[in-house]
Amino acid sequence: MKNIDSYTHTRGESVYLDDIPLLAGTLFACCFDSPVANGIIENLDLSEAEQSEGVVKILTHQDITGENQIGGIIPDEPLFAEHHVHFCGMPIALVIAESDHLAKKAVKKIKATIKALPAITDPREAFARGELTLPPRSFVLGNTASAWKDCTHIFEGRADTNGQEHLYIETQGAYAIPAENGALRIYSSTQGPTAVQRTVSRVTGLPMHKVEIDVTRLGGGFGGKEDQANTWAALCALATHHLKRPVKYSLHRMEDMRMTGKRNPYSSDFKIGLDKDLKIIAYEATFYQNSGAAADLSPAILERTLFHCNNTYFIPNVKATAISCKTNLPPNTAFRGFGGPQGMFVIEASIVHAAEQLGIAPAVIQQKNLMQTGDEFPYGQKVVSEANECWEKAMHLYQNESLLNDIDVFNKSNTWSKKGLAMMPICFGISFTNTLMNQARALVHIYTDGSVAISTGAIEMGQGVNTKIAQVAAQIFSIPIGQVKLNTTNTYRIANTSPSAASATADLNGKATQIACNTLLDRLKNVAAELLHTVADEIELKEESIYIKWQKTDLTWKQLVLSAYNKRISLSEHAHYATPEIHFDKTKEKGHPFAYHVFGTAITTVTLDCLRGTYEVDAVRIVHDAGSSMNELIDRGQIEGGLVQGIGWMTLEEIVYDKDGKLRSNALSTYKVPDIYAVPKEISIDFLHTEKNNLAIFRSKAVGEPPLMYGIGTYFAIRDAIRQFNPKSNPAFDAPFTPEKVLLALYPDRAAELKN
Ligand code: MTE
Ligand code: HPA
Ligand code: MOS
Repeated sequence: MKNIDSYTHTRGESVYLDDIPLLAGTLFACCFDSPVANGIIENLDLSEAEQSEGVVKILTHQDITGENQIGGIIPDEPLFAEHHVHFCGMPIALVIAESDHLAKKAVKKIKATIKALPAITDPREAFARGELTLPPRSFVLGNTASAWKDCTHIFEGRADTNGQEHLYIETQGAYAIPAENGALRIYSSTQGPTAVQRTVSRVTGLPMHKVEIDVTRLGGGFGGKEDQANTWAALCALATHHLKRPVKYSLHRMEDMRMTGKRNPYSSDFKIGLDKDLKIIAYEATFYQNSGAAADLSPAILERTLFHCNNTYFIPNVKATAISCKTNLPPNTAFRGFGGPQGMFVIEASIVHAAEQLGIAPAVIQQKNLMQTGDEFPYGQKVVSEANECWEKAMHLYQNESLLNDIDVFNKSNTWSKKGLAMMPICFGISFTNTLMNQARALVHIYTDGSVAISTGAIEMGQGVNTKIAQVAAQIFSIPIGQVKLNTTNTYRIANTSPSAASATADLNGKATQIACNTLLDRLKNVAAELLHTVADEIELKEESIYIKWQKTDLTWKQLVLSAYNKRISLSEHAHYATPEIHFDKTKEKGHPFAYHVFGTAITTVTLDCLRGTYEVDAVRIVHDAGSSMNELIDRGQIEGGLVQGIGWMTLEEIVYDKDGKLRSNALSTYKVPDIYAVPKEISIDFLHTEKNNLAIFRSKAVGEPPLMYGIGTYFAIRDAIRQFNPKSNPAFDAPFTPEKVLLALYPDRAAELKN
């Protein structure tokens, strides 16, 4: 079953924001954004820009008709700077002009006098100055303070991870159109249509029912459009609200990179204690999160770091503290894994550090501590674990012993080239950690010709959710997938949506669709029973025919649908789903926040050029717990894409802000994303097929985010190869492991000399 979008994608016919035909009279917007990371606006001179060709209006905070506030979790983020700028890229004014080109030209004529103040870019420095977005939070299990005395080995260290650009192929943007009675219709490239609707309503002062958001699909979101699509929609909406003309803003790549937040960088301290059998007895970690200049989603991301601080290992005594530190960078935001990868990197670094000090393979510690069903997470939930199953299957399927042997032979016979290997087991909780967000609705119409149209809150961003939802309806009604159409995601059809995020979109919206379809099915079965003089329990629908007790009748799907209509039976249903069983008490930091967990294990092998510090990923071999996958082709795509995105984060992608808070890696020429050469030469994926009763749609476990964390294995495989060359090398745990850093790690003595 192919992705239902594959035909139009291949032909270039799929509709994205920039493909929407423009209405006559459409105007174009462009931001004047702060060139200073922290400062006071002393003067703003718009006069020359206002006289510039084609300029219709320039908006500032003074033109806001509602509230100058777009903060989602905490109201700490103005849409337009008023007197104070908090990051380079913060919107100060918006030029509206007759063309995109003229808007950009006019922006250059705006003159601002901004008194620069010292900028903070480092989370530990922000912490030292007391610049926090919220008070710190801690998850505690057992008692680490008393557990240290039971440990034979105790190790401490530090681990850092940098941010990551989302680099969705489609940049951020919105197109606002005036409607009757002051209402607005907005096309937005967003993962969260309701978040956009709420923000537009807040900024313009319009009630939410006058703000329609419509989304066909995104050219990628990866978390970057969960909250940060709001800004551009709010800007366009405000302009349309004033001018009563359509206004479009589609960001240039460099504007997007400069003005939007990224994955949160983290700097963390760890302390790990093991007993003589290498069981991890105690673990302490302190996470300093770089939130950027406003909270955005960082508090929720911080929480997921705590939820995933032990990755897939059972540790009886844990104390994890997370601190969201406010800096003068663009507000950082959701990115595939949502803080989980940042937490998991630190426990992996702790284990690798311990193993190196003990002179053993990290895999020995990893394997001994994998979670068993019934073990408890630091947040109180008991695990239903597939960790050992994935690990064992990976070891046997990919013949780990002989892989290690081959590497050993290679390393003994090569001086300037070394291979390394790392195991990366993962565990990821599925559900929004904010329990209330785990709800969704679906609207299903059956038309009188038997065709079906579905609306949900799900956003198609390339992950294949529309295909999975279409499969749900096609399977329940037993009709061909071509009979089912997914409508655009629209806040007038489906209200109060949660963003398409947390890998839970197919589960939540698929379940709502399932409920709606089953209700319609029951109604149709009653009609069929009446027509065929039997009882509804005897009726089955199969391949567009109606069966009585597996006996085919002459009644077809189309006839049945039409008969129901003729009998004045409703062929439409709106259904609601809320994940049962989940709960979490923030005052105690305990509960059962996740519907279930996804597991997997990756074996990564790399080859390192020890003269140049460059490396190639030879193979990533994965066993992934997909439950009973609904669509293995789509799931494979998600695993491959997530993996490569994770490898990029861990190796090549290096965000650089200078000390003044200016983004230096501000284009694709200075920011290196994985290309075809960075993709592992071999990616093997095997599914651990399970059919446990869980809360996933058709028992097919969510797949969107977890595979990104397989990429962490590449970091440690490179480290292993470095130590094969130079066993004394002990580089800092500081991702990404760019070739420059690898080269210095290969020759630490020379690196130290160079530093002096
Ligand atoms: N895959 C593609 N092709 N494009 C995307 O933007 N986003 C990822 C993941 N896979 C993304 C993707 C992220 S961050 C999430 S949370 C999930 O998809 C969201 O979709 P799902 O809930 O349907 O898995
Ligand atoms: N995951 C992803 N996005 C989110 C979450 C989450 O747990 N909570 C709020 N937005
Ligand atoms: Mo994904 S980071 O939850 O959008």
